[in-house]
Amino acid sequence: MKVRYKSPKEIGIMRKACMLCSEVLDELLDSVKPGISTADIDVLAREAIAERGLKSAFLGYYDYPAVTCTSLNQVVVHGIPSRSDILEAGDVLSVDFGAFWEGYCGDVARTMIVPGSEPLASSKKLVQTTYESLQHGLAQTLVGQRLGDVGYAIQSLSESEGCSVVRQFTGHGIGRRMHEEPAVRNYGDQNSGKKIKPGLVVAIEPMLTAGFYDVEILEDDWTAVTKDGSLAAHFEDTVAVTTDGPWVLTRANSKPGDIGSIELRV
Ligand code: MF3
Ligand code: CO
Repeated sequence: MKVRYKSPKEIGIMRKACMLCSEVLDELLDSVKPGISTADIDVLAREAIAERGLKSAFLGYYDYPAVTCTSLNQVVVHGIPSRSDILEAGDVLSVDFGAFWEGYCGDVARTMIVPGSEPLASSKKLVQTTYESLQHGLAQTLVGQRLGDVGYAIQSLSESEGCSVVRQFTGHGIGRRMHEEPAVRNYGDQNSGKKIKPGLVVAIEPMLTAGFYDVEILEDDWTAVTKDGSLAAHFEDTVAVTTDGPWVLTRANSKPGDIGSIELRV
């Protein structure tokens, strides 16, 4: 399999696809409060998809049954929305959303703490560290760097804050398909791996735990939980490499050479 580099025109279409995905995800996060279920979030997402003329990237993907992944507390990724998962104040909730617009895919995920009580300092630290690690990874997604520099940046920031980086899942190239070459590891060595070139578009998605990094998959064949039961967090942005620098397509406040920021919900 080969990396499919995107033209500036394709990146323009992907910007629009990614902004729509990011708007949907913000709307979903705005709705989060104690007492709602993760299935309620998925229902809202289905409505938002219809309103915007999007096509879910998740529904039916290897038979995945929903349009979002809602991963609660010890769930790392790929939590399936459920009527029986009722949110409580202080829960660590990750919501992942991906969809196609005009044939191109956007992929974005955020972790928040369910409002309503003073969150545990340890939960807050995990969410903040996962976001910081993504910032460090995005800043390395530059012409002249290598993919190992991205993984190294994510891993070193995460471990310096006492968190572990999950190894079983990676980020990925993205475009006309949700998952394209290359895989983007969240760990690695500086100056190793594929060279980063203009037109590369990747989803970078660090998954961190407050304990050990091993995960296991539940009976439903999707839900990935930490083996040691520790809390996990996940942030994901889709980023295009331009000659002016990284452009985080899933953030309204990013432009080429400026990765922008996210307001954390902690
Ligand atoms: N956003 C996830 C990823 O980056 C995809 C979720 S898996 C799916 O890999 F089956 F729900 F699509
Ligand atoms: Co992804």
